[in-house]
Amino acid sequence: MLPDRKAFPPDFTFGVATSAYQIEGSGHGGAGPSHWDSFAATPGTIADGSNGSIACDHYHRWPEDLDLIRDAGFSAYRFSTSWARVMPDGVTANPQGLDFYDRLVDGMLERGLAPYLTCYHWDLPAALSDLGGWQNRDIAARFADYCVTIHRRIGDRVASTATLNEPWCIAWLSHFLGHHAPGLRDIRAAARAMHHVLLAHGTAMQALRTEGAKNLGIVLNFETAQPADDGPDAARAAEVQDAIYNQWFIRAVMGQGYPQAALEGLEPHLPQGWQADMETIAPPLDWLGVNYYTRRLYAAGAGLWPQGEAVDGPLPKTQMGWEIRPEGLTEFLTRLAHDHVGNLPILVTENGMSAAAGPDITADPHRIAFIGDHLRAAKAAMDQGVNLRGFFYWSLLDNFEWGWGYGPRFGLVHVDYDTMARTPKASWHAFRRMLRG
Ligand code: FCB
Repeated sequence: MLPDRKAFPPDFTFGVATSAYQIEGSGHGGAGPSHWDSFAATPGTIADGSNGSIACDHYHRWPEDLDLIRDAGFSAYRFSTSWARVMPDGVTANPQGLDFYDRLVDGMLERGLAPYLTCYHWDLPAALSDLGGWQNRDIAARFADYCVTIHRRIGDRVASTATLNEPWCIAWLSHFLGHHAPGLRDIRAAARAMHHVLLAHGTAMQALRTEGAKNLGIVLNFETAQPADDGPDAARAAEVQDAIYNQWFIRAVMGQGYPQAALEGLEPHLPQGWQADMETIAPPLDWLGVNYYTRRLYAAGAGLWPQGEAVDGPLPKTQMGWEIRPEGLTEFLTRLAHDHVGNLPILVTENGMSAAAGPDITADPHRIAFIGDHLRAAKAAMDQGVNLRGFFYWSLLDNFEWGWGYGPRFGLVHVDYDTMARTPKASWHAFRRMLRG
């Protein structure tokens, strides 16, 4: 069951989230290749050998998709613009690409949906990837130029702008763990990306402010890191992972410096003179976006830093194998307010679950239970004083789930990838009942 709408303040924002590469279809409208196109073209990187070239064909079907958001009663839509569509070579604006987002934003406004823009949700132009991508310090200036280009076209109509989605994924998952584009496993590349991604955020924030942009933030992901047993090595492993995942980015953007437990392994590989950038990285934010899905347990691991090993936990799991632990959302929201952001407005910018489609593609009782439990967990944090202003479900549609391909289904709306037919699931109807009464 979803909670009563009245449990939340009248001005609390309910929305859905998507990202460009996962739904649009990457090649249309004069877009250039992104590093996700080349990563996906590399054997063994995507579970089902698929890619985002067609995805949900949202590039052509966006009016129908926006109708679905409005009809469920949501008042906001978190979407991303594709850098490779807006700037096919990474630097030169593509009018056709900008036109697409211009129409999309107007389409949201026509339907009474507040546009929540994310400038970067991972589709880096391949031309910039060729120059080292996030390993190259120049990315900060390139990214700021791109954000300003977007802002000049649609900034007059968006309700809010996030620079980046999930820098942990952009840097660590992609350059150290190798699971996302560009698929590197290299600590020097990872350390540089961990720093440059933040430098890009700060540089873009400043450039956007100069343009007069309002309501600026960043979207960070948080994942509970706990020891798998009572021993000191597991405790230490969880502490290091917590520093890399849950502290590195929030501390830096709030001007609190990098956490010691992560610097121990990363400092030797950071770009020289990194300390001088810390002020640029931390201009004031208007809000913080929080993505929360799960917890991970860490056991002692032999060998090189960071020495921990993720192990399977005992809780019920989603189709992704991710443990379901709603109280983690309450814990992060209260911890973030207490340790880092104080009364700064917070949005849950992503939360959701994947569940395989059964014979009845609209039946998703586990998703409804998941959403209800996480909304109540969010409310519990508000009751403890957290300044939470909104909740965005991930995702509107089943879509291209990165390295997992099209297997996982996160959508409130089922997508048939042969016909592209959209079918609202029971969870979509549950939201509609909650939001429209
Ligand atoms: C988040 C991503 C989003 C989607 C969900 C399941 O890490 O921001 O694109 O993949 O996980």
